[in-house]
Amino acid sequence: MSKVIICDHPLIQHKLTLIRDKRTTTKEFRELVDEVATLMAYEITRELRLQTITVETPVAKTETKVIAGRMLGLIPILRAGLGMVDGVVKLIPGAKIGHVGLFRDPETLQPVEYYTKLPTDVHERELIIIDPMLATGGSAIAAVDALKKRNCTQMKLMCLIAAPEGVKLFQEAHPDVDIYLAALDERLDDHGYIVPGLGDAGDRLFGTK
Ligand code: PRP
Ligand code: URA
Repeated sequence: MSKVIICDHPLIQHKLTLIRDKRTTTKEFRELVDEVATLMAYEITRELRLQTITVETPVAKTETKVIAGRMLGLIPILRAGLGMVDGVVKLIPGAKIGHVGLFRDPETLQPVEYYTKLPTDVHERELIIIDPMLATGGSAIAAVDALKKRNCTQMKLMCLIAAPEGVKLFQEAHPDVDIYLAALDERLDDHGYIVPGLGDAGDRLFGTK
């Protein structure tokens, strides 16, 4: 079974509280999501392998470490995943970015795929799939399905908030993909919204409601 890692750094938790608050404006919401994405990226990249190289400082030659030529890819799930991409790119500027467009049908809560554009070498990359919300789990499962169909094997899922129901379904569908969260909430409501959650992530990011 995959791991669920809660990124419980005080800065992440403090900013997540502001993100949840319904009084937070669209501008503040965007800025905070961006900041939390950067802080979470710090956690997610903790296990990147290093290699030793030699550099010359102004004082002496020394052996020192750099990231071992890893090929990384970021896969935001449209639309709301876009709000976290820049925050991650700040730490991993060389990452390629692929997009998977999914929306949740409001009646059935099933994900509907409407757009996919991925780097041609996506199957060779270690991927971080990015979406603020893991609710029923349908969208994240569909995104990983789409990537596995293209022979991708190394993936991590990064979300701000998840519901236990979504985590369970996702782990059953993709036991090989670890999940990084800022918070694991209580439950889903009758409309498939996370309680207490933060509301509709896409609408709050883009000001559409
Ligand atoms: C939201 C969210 C996830 C999905 C989570 O997207 O960003 O992609 O819902 O729900 P699930 O786990 O039940 O599938 P939404 O469908 O609202 O689309 P949007 O990002 O375009 O607003
Ligand atoms: N999508 C959201 O944006 N919020 C939720 O609570 C659930 C799905």
